[in-house]
Amino acid sequence: MNPENLLLEVDGPVALIRLHRPRQLNALNDALMDELAQALQQYDADPAIGCVVLTGSDKAFAAGADISAMATKDHMQAYGEDFITRNWERMRSVRKPVIAAVAGYALGGGCELAMMCDFIIAADDARFGQPEIRIGIIPGAGGTQRLPRAVGKSKAMDMVLTARMMDAAEAERAGLVSRVVPAASLLQEAMEVARTICSFPRQTVMMAKECVHRAFETPLADGLMFERRLFHSLFGTHDQREGMAAFLEKRQPHFENR
Ligand code: CAA
Repeated sequence: MNPENLLLEVDGPVALIRLHRPRQLNALNDALMDELAQALQQYDADPAIGCVVLTGSDKAFAAGADISAMATKDHMQAYGEDFITRNWERMRSVRKPVIAAVAGYALGGGCELAMMCDFIIAADDARFGQPEIRIGIIPGAGGTQRLPRAVGKSKAMDMVLTARMMDAAEAERAGLVSRVVPAASLLQEAMEVARTICSFPRQTVMMAKECVHRAFETPLADGLMFERRLFHSLFGTHDQREGMAAFLEKRQPHFENR
């Protein structure tokens, strides 16, 4: 794969994807999102990769969907080409963890893309917002659904209706991001977190991710049953035996992803 709008790197078991349209503050057009969907699919299928980090530049994770690419779209064009759905939604089928490492602006589709990731690590200069109302539209990549789930109705309404931005400290207080780190060490910290995840049994990590996602899709009783069944299934793995034996023998576990 030789993408024009992404920079791809692999560091051991961690794949790093950088959004790369610097002159447009990483505005997300179809070409970029097609490449992103393809890269994610490729890393998800690669047994050597355990975790993906998705990042932008120092100035912007992404300043939204590309306004110049949609300014003249009409209704039937948007519907006909399955705008946003066809490529953006591919993120939802990725089974390995994807961490968003956000510095600078994460606005509109940029904020929505970060929220599609499994969790967000923010630089202390990160700014989140859903300013679509300013250009006459509403969030179209899940912002009205994921933002209230992350920060509650009041803050979500405030952001969606007034277009105000949330800084990193507020985003952490509100639960939108899991940690805030100094901008200068964002990538280093995100890669370290990814390496920690990769040190655990691969399938167990995938099941844990699947279970947490289930919490947002099902009633509690169904979610608990789903979790319990996967929990039971892990007692059939080598890595459960090894993890528990290593704890009891006071040594490091040697996981084999089976
Ligand atoms: N689409 C296309 N181009 C964009 C863009 C976007 N979303 N955001 C920034 N750019 C471009 C600018 O047009 C500018 O290009 P030129 O140099 O060719 O003029 C370049 O990036 C730099 O931007 P600015 O000069 O505006 O930079 P700034 O530092 O003064 O401001 C900003 C930064 C506050 C992020 C401002 O660029 C901005 O408000 N951008 C738009 C944010 C926005 O409305 N996002 C939502 C888009 S709609 C959406 O995302 C729908 C959805 O839910 C899927």
